[in-house]
Amino acid sequence: MATLRAHASDEIRSGVILSHLEPGRRAMKLQRTHNCGELRAEHAGQEVILNGWVSVRRDLGGLYFVDLRDRYGVTQVNIDPEKVANADELSRETVIAVKGRVQERPGGNPNESMPTGAIEVSCSEIEILNLSLTPPFEVKDDVKANEDTRLRFRYVDMRRPVLSKAIQTRSRICQIIREVFHGEDFCEVETPLLMKTSPEGARDFIVPSRMQPGKVYAMPQSPQLMKQALMVSGIDKYFQICKCLRDEDLRADRQPEFTQLDMEMSFVRSDDVFLVIEKTLVRLWKEVLGEDLPVEFPRMSYREAMDRFGIDKPDTRFGLELVDCSETLKECGFQVFSGAISGGGSVRGIRVPGGAKAVSRKKVDKLEKLAKEHGAKGLAWMKLAADGPSGPVAKFLSEDERKAICDQMGAVDGDLLVFVADKNDVVFAALAAVRQRLGQDLDLIDRNVTDVLWICDFPLFEYSEEHGGWGAMHHMFTMPKKDLPADNSKLGDVLGNQYDLVVNGNEMGSGSVRIHRADIQRRIFELIGMDEEEANEKFGWFLQALEYGAPPHGGIALGIDRLVMVMLGYDNIRDVIAFPKNSSGIDPMMDSPSEPMDGAFEELGLTFTPPAPEAPEES
Ligand code: AMO
Ligand code: AMP
Repeated sequence: MATLRAHASDEIRSGVILSHLEPGRRAMKLQRTHNCGELRAEHAGQEVILNGWVSVRRDLGGLYFVDLRDRYGVTQVNIDPEKVANADELSRETVIAVKGRVQERPGGNPNESMPTGAIEVSCSEIEILNLSLTPPFEVKDDVKANEDTRLRFRYVDMRRPVLSKAIQTRSRICQIIREVFHGEDFCEVETPLLMKTSPEGARDFIVPSRMQPGKVYAMPQSPQLMKQALMVSGIDKYFQICKCLRDEDLRADRQPEFTQLDMEMSFVRSDDVFLVIEKTLVRLWKEVLGEDLPVEFPRMSYREAMDRFGIDKPDTRFGLELVDCSETLKECGFQVFSGAISGGGSVRGIRVPGGAKAVSRKKVDKLEKLAKEHGAKGLAWMKLAADGPSGPVAKFLSEDERKAICDQMGAVDGDLLVFVADKNDVVFAALAAVRQRLGQDLDLIDRNVTDVLWICDFPLFEYSEEHGGWGAMHHMFTMPKKDLPADNSKLGDVLGNQYDLVVNGNEMGSGSVRIHRADIQRRIFELIGMDEEEANEKFGWFLQALEYGAPPHGGIALGIDRLVMVMLGYDNIRDVIAFPKNSSGIDPMMDSPSEPMDGAFEELGLTFTPPAPEAPEES
């Protein structure tokens, strides 16, 4: 605090007068008439004032050229240091006001790469509004600093045009979403952050209560139960752009706190939900990117997505589809293949046209490593050539078997074939990863295309070997498509009225038609191994709400961070979030999480055990 105050009252630093801090004056003198992205040739001759940050100062033949930056753009200002006071104080990121006359660039020499490139401002007066320490990195789009440094100085990082644009586009996206939803008669409702568990498959962040010692609130993993309660309340059409909190391992497309566009509607079928989301995305793509999306998005069943792509969020911008070779290979001599099939698994392969040349031996080894990282025991491969096939599996297959496989896969000389044999979930996971990598490496993905897709008809339950029981595949509030079977062994066949929205291979959203009857909800809890006592303790309030006239309802939530990321063509959601956490869940700017403030835990009746210091390594 002391240092901050010292800075504020420090009227003269390095000989520069911060004019608005002159005794008796606290306001800036030169307030902007235009922003730094606004001036064009038609403004030539006008006297203007700009406010902004010094991006670059170039000294050319006794004249200074300053690129003045604000959120809206950059304008070139030329300054004659002989005539203008303070001209020598313009180091990087100094905050200044500039008064001057707009003139066309001399010699009819516009800078086509800048929207303001037709003009410059010939400066007559500079007011220094504030100084800046030397920035920790250069404020430019192709910044060299590592991510933690950028996150530590995020307020400087966000001056980079590319990041500033992402944050502004995000704002525009949320504005359009609100326009669409209000236009469709949705009611925006805020739901609580301090609540009881609202599970979505991650751990809850919990908040101890001071007023109720020994008790905790859970932060919402999503407003799922609240929005269902809103339907019981008769709100009918709800939406919210809200924060969700999940304590889970982070990835490029995951943050511990993130934002959802959450919505729910009463008296609807899944088609009604699709319609609203389709309208929203069509408008977003049109207004933000100038692109036309199909008015109705294609739909694919979960089963088809898995069979063709090995994954429920397929990137359908390229081919390389999976082929099930089990029938053809079930009696083949290669034990790895026939054994997997007789054990209830499968052998599936991908044909890579021209892959015999395009995919080097080294790349194949990398693909095998990738397959193994996804649980496969190996990646069998075969390159086809006029003088016979090469690769480790070729020799294990008879000529007839090779021919049958090539016929089935439509393979010709010059192709590469890769196969995985295992339990189905391993085959799918490994081949989906191999396919995606091949798509990238062989540059098969058309980046100018946006592929949107509904994936429907997910299984309601999935079996967990780890827990030895059935769990909900999406969440436990989804309505089954048909009556539940009496025989538990058939639970894997039950489909839920659930859908995911996939854009360019990213899971953008997920939703379902919900269970609105308490008896069915209780039965689902029971089937996933929750006894009555646990169900009542965790969700008693919700089961009761369903008993007070819950209407049929359904909805969806889209990940806003992922949506902005995909629209802008980025690979990491941190690039579209103002203040994200790093991959270890840390905010390096605030240094959070941090040790509790003195007394905080005592007040809450908690004891805090700091982790034991790590033992020094033995030499
Ligand atoms: P789900 O858990 O699938 O569904 O979440 C919906 C969407 O939210 C985004 N998302 C995330 N984004 C960033 N970081 C995360 N950690 C993260 N987790 C999820 C994804 C995802 O598709 N209540 C249900 C929705 C419903 O049924 O209506 C739900 O939350 O884009
Ligand atoms: P091996 O007999 O283990 O030397 O394997 C011969 C070839 O088959 C190697 O290229 C392995 O990568 C591959 N392979 C081994 N197990 C599998 C499997 N389950 N699925 C596909 N390929 C495999």
